[in-house]
Amino acid sequence: MLDFDRKSVVLVTCPKGFSPYLRQELERMGFRIREEKTAGVEIKASLNECMKLNLYVRTGHRVLYQLKRFEASSPEDLYDNVKSMVWERILTPDDYLTVTSSVRTETVNDTRFANVKVKDAIVDRMREKTGRRPHSGPDLCGIIPFLYWREDDCVVYLDTSGDPLSRRGYRKFPAKAPLQETLAACIIMASGWFGKGNFISPMCGSGTLAIEAALIGLNGAPGLMRDDFAFMRLPGFDQEYWDKLCTEAENSERTDITGRIIATDIDPEAVEAARKNAREAGVEHHIEFGVCDFRDTEVPTNGGVVIINPEYGERLGSTSSLEKVYTAIGDFFKSKCQGYKGYVFTGNKELAKFIGLRTSRRLQFFNAKIECRLLEYEIYQGSVRRR
Ligand SMILES: C[S@@+](CC[C@H](N)C(=O)[O-])C[C@H]1O[C@@H](n2cnc3c(N)ncnc32)[C@H](O)[C@@H]1O
Repeated sequence: MLDFDRKSVVLVTCPKGFSPYLRQELERMGFRIREEKTAGVEIKASLNECMKLNLYVRTGHRVLYQLKRFEASSPEDLYDNVKSMVWERILTPDDYLTVTSSVRTETVNDTRFANVKVKDAIVDRMREKTGRRPHSGPDLCGIIPFLYWREDDCVVYLDTSGDPLSRRGYRKFPAKAPLQETLAACIIMASGWFGKGNFISPMCGSGTLAIEAALIGLNGAPGLMRDDFAFMRLPGFDQEYWDKLCTEAENSERTDITGRIIATDIDPEAVEAARKNAREAGVEHHIEFGVCDFRDTEVPTNGGVVIINPEYGERLGSTSSLEKVYTAIGDFFKSKCQGYKGYVFTGNKELAKFIGLRTSRRLQFFNAKIECRLLEYEIYQGSVRRR
């Protein structure tokens, strides 16, 4: 049995570039930050608090609860240290075991080898202590020890999330090149939109930006849309406490958003997918959908943010025809979006130059492996053309 009140080091992981937004979220939840890393933020928390983190965090991917930290300079060191841990308190021979990891050490050159070493150590310990061994495999549907190994530094965590938190569960209807839900949440946080003013999403695709905006505007806990987290399979998990957390989260949701959320796309199928995804997320009636060219999107006069995620040639569309689209985005900002902050999220720096307006900020993000920029434009009467 695990003590769900016992605090330990907790690492909330995220893709490169997300840490400042994740840090903000954790601070707002009342956690003291131990360290902001390139791909995660470290705090101290109990397993009960890990449940809360899984429920509320918008920009993190996994909530990892530290079990043991040690030095290991060989696979044998790793095996011995992991085998000395009291695994029979954490799992039974009837549980299913999946070891995952992030390994960068000269000691092993194949991550899978390190995973097998950890799995062998756990299985051997269980066989010695109970006479039986748990089954293991790749599916994230049981107990998930996570190994972090850099040089000689080894940390064994329990992954309390399972599927990454980016998989909110609402995006059942795909469209072209969707943004990850957590990335969309970071982009919105970076824009400073928290529900006041309008949120305009031309080129909405599958609706990720508009749906995440609606969730932010309503203070909706993203974890409410999922019914499976790895912490639910840990010994000592209290279903009643989880139900209470979910009820609290539901009760703290707002019923309305002050600003309007408008989402449009030229592709009727994308808009249909976006509408259905919004329905899955329970926010359909907070978003005004429309099929049109982005230039014809309604932009109310009272200000807010406009966020455009155009194709950028890596995965869709050819670069030369996109040059005209990027120029037209600059014209659209200048002619229709005065009083707004305009944002373009793109993975193509050359295309971005065709927007032709002066950026007020350029923020780096990674969309999968592609280095991207969120370009910010403050649009006022007579915004300066750069070329
Ligand atoms: C990269 S995708 C956007 C993906 C979206 N952020 C998501 O998460 O699903 C670009 C979208 O722009 C749309 N698009 C391309 N040209 C357009 C135009 N001229 N007007 C409006 N939408 C356009 C495409 O149909 C596509 O859905």
